[in-house]
Amino acid sequence: MKIIIKKDYDELSREAARIVKEAVQTKPDTVLGLATGSTPIGCYRELIKMHEEEGLDFSQVTSFNLDEYQGLPADHPQSYNYFMYENLFNRVNINPKNIFIPDGMTENVEKFSKEYEEKIKEAGGIDLQILGIGSDGHIGFNEPGTPLDSRTQLVKLAESTIEDNSRFFEKKEDVPRFAITMGPQTIFEAKKILLLASGENKAEAVAKLIEGPITPQITASVLQKHPNTIVILDEKAASKLKKHGRNSF
Ligand code: PGA
Repeated sequence: MKIIIKKDYDELSREAARIVKEAVQTKPDTVLGLATGSTPIGCYRELIKMHEEEGLDFSQVTSFNLDEYQGLPADHPQSYNYFMYENLFNRVNINPKNIFIPDGMTENVEKFSKEYEEKIKEAGGIDLQILGIGSDGHIGFNEPGTPLDSRTQLVKLAESTIEDNSRFFEKKEDVPRFAITMGPQTIFEAKKILLLASGENKAEAVAKLIEGPITPQITASVLQKHPNTIVILDEKAASKLKKHGRNSF
């Protein structure tokens, strides 16, 4: 893993967008794996700016999102489908036919999950996967204990994730308890991975991701074995690293 430590969230977001831009310019039909949550919003904002000001072209890009809450329809303001259109898709020239997001309303999760994996394969695999990290060390919605070789499936959210994500809902009881998520193995197969983490509440998970053992208890730790992963942190998210200081890269 390559670790980049930036001063703050804005710098982190600019660096992440620069890497995505490079991928899209190098391979215009690049396949992006996309994440939701607060962390990638700044990166998406920068990409929108690059599209508007420099003509960064998404017309041939295909995207696959990591996850979606079960039971939320695509037009629900807290659904990840809604999030992606609000924060990126409505503002760049990606072709809606090339956008894939897990369907939180599917009646046959198993069939849907298999087909989602097949679609990723048919697209040639994910070229660049953007990830956040949960305070419990999850990637996607792969909570502690998820076998690291599992693929897209229905999962139960950890109590800590429900707590973390309740800030987006009116009350904690409204947070869905289940989600469909790409598995750690699906994520691991991306050719390049860009994991972003910002803020003090991620520092513990980041330290375990980078300096702890590879374990299903911290599903992000599987990335230690990945041949092409870049982790971009701000100083607060990097604050609990023991071996890696700001000047060691
Ligand atoms: P956040 O979520 O970006 O909203 O902190 C990250 C995650 O849970 O993966």
